[in-house]
Amino acid sequence: MSTAKPAAPPARAEWTGQVGFILSAVGSAVGLGNIWRFPGVAYENGGGAFLIPYIVALLTAGIPILFLDYAIGHRYRGSAPLALRRIAGKLGEGIGWFQVMICVFIAIYYTAVLAWASSYFVYSFDIRWGDDATGFFVNEYLQLADAPFTLHFVPSVLIPLVIMWIVTLIVLGAGVVKGVQRMNVIGIPLLVVGFLALVIRALFLPGAVDGLNALFTPDFSALLIPGVWVAAYSQIFFSLSVAFGIMLTYSSYRRRKSNLTTPGLVVAFSNSSFEILAGVGVFATLGFFAHQQGIGVGDLEGLTGVGLAFMTFPAIVSEMPGGPIFGMLFFGSLAIAGLTSMISIMEVILAAIMDKFGLTRLQATYRIGGVLAVISIVLFGTTSGLTALDTIDNWANNIGIVSSAVAMTITVLWIRGSGRMLAGHLSALSTFKVGRTWLFFVSILGPVVLGYMLVATIIGLIAEPYGGYSAGYLLIVGWGSVVLMIGGSLILTSRRWRYNPDNFEPWPQVNAASRQGGAK
Ligand code: ALA
Repeated sequence: MSTAKPAAPPARAEWTGQVGFILSAVGSAVGLGNIWRFPGVAYENGGGAFLIPYIVALLTAGIPILFLDYAIGHRYRGSAPLALRRIAGKLGEGIGWFQVMICVFIAIYYTAVLAWASSYFVYSFDIRWGDDATGFFVNEYLQLADAPFTLHFVPSVLIPLVIMWIVTLIVLGAGVVKGVQRMNVIGIPLLVVGFLALVIRALFLPGAVDGLNALFTPDFSALLIPGVWVAAYSQIFFSLSVAFGIMLTYSSYRRRKSNLTTPGLVVAFSNSSFEILAGVGVFATLGFFAHQQGIGVGDLEGLTGVGLAFMTFPAIVSEMPGGPIFGMLFFGSLAIAGLTSMISIMEVILAAIMDKFGLTRLQATYRIGGVLAVISIVLFGTTSGLTALDTIDNWANNIGIVSSAVAMTITVLWIRGSGRMLAGHLSALSTFKVGRTWLFFVSILGPVVLGYMLVATIIGLIAEPYGGYSAGYLLIVGWGSVVLMIGGSLILTSRRWRYNPDNFEPWPQVNAASRQGGAK
């Protein structure tokens, strides 16, 4: 890289308008978290009663931190490390890189699930898995070995994985408007129509009501279990794409004079509505499956995550009249929802690299994206995939994202004391004004509650090995991922900026903007 410093970085890309921004933010939020994570998490954590911590988490942390992400990204017009550096110096930059590192880990496994979903979309045409969906997934599709570390390429996974990376990188390489926005403008309406068709079909299956009863019958005793609350908060963060750089980066592409909070509310409620819709669709389908076998929904196995999507669902599709269409709708929705989210996860990484090292979009996309693609392909195109995915998913979400939320709120609001200024920025520009209540949630409730949850989760993970895996494996893959995230952020923070990041005047000044009457 040349040492001569050009005077100024290139102009920042901008969404063409409010609709492009909202669709892209919804595209990021609605993802695997909504379809394959939420229904199972809700079911395991109190069923209907889970909606209480879920809504509390949405209102007290999800939406407030979404606004915080928007305010920081928009006012300081940068990727996570750049914007956070402009507000909180090197410490802020370090937190920004930590968010980027979380995205690196998530991107590596997220594409694997996307690849599986796209394979299963094709397999749905002729119900390729036959009568033994679990055996097909584990033995024939993934060719899962007993040992977690065997390296042996599995073509059925490798090919879709390579295709998914190529599609992702092409979209990202085309830029914010021509790539990311266009993908979402096409993908989101398609997803909504496809998924609604699936849910409506599911509701008319025999036994659907039993499934809905299983999901929504509340077990209020679950509310006394701290882990249920932790599950609700981490679900909201992952699902709404907050506290790990995504919404911050996306709002940095918003025009200067832009309404921020109202689109934020649209995004948050669209995401949660989609999540509840997914819960209804998935459990109505499970109700049908239990009904076919003459058992209760609670007696079914594989109601969460990978098991739900790739073992239980295919088994149901085999038994259902019109199964191939249902399978295509389900796996097609999973693939589109996942792709639009994957693009946003990668955008966090690329934007940060472009800002810090002055790479062009194409250079960042093909160099950094290429390296990540190779890591992901080696790790998940081999038989070691499933265990690593499950472990990294747990650590990245429950430790990585929650720590990032705590570190960001403490640094920006407690150490830098920027809460009022950010509230002013949001209110000056937006039709939905924020004030003391927002400040209370982001600066007091957020850090304290999330900090407590984080400590409880860490103690829990130390006391009881996660998922029954060996302690050594969890140390290397789970805790090792967190160490790599922290190490990576320290190294990246220590590198020199291509353009002086501090040569920046935040605009619009709050008073000037309010005099001008805010924005559309
Ligand atoms: N928000 C994205 C999801 O729910 C990451 O999958």
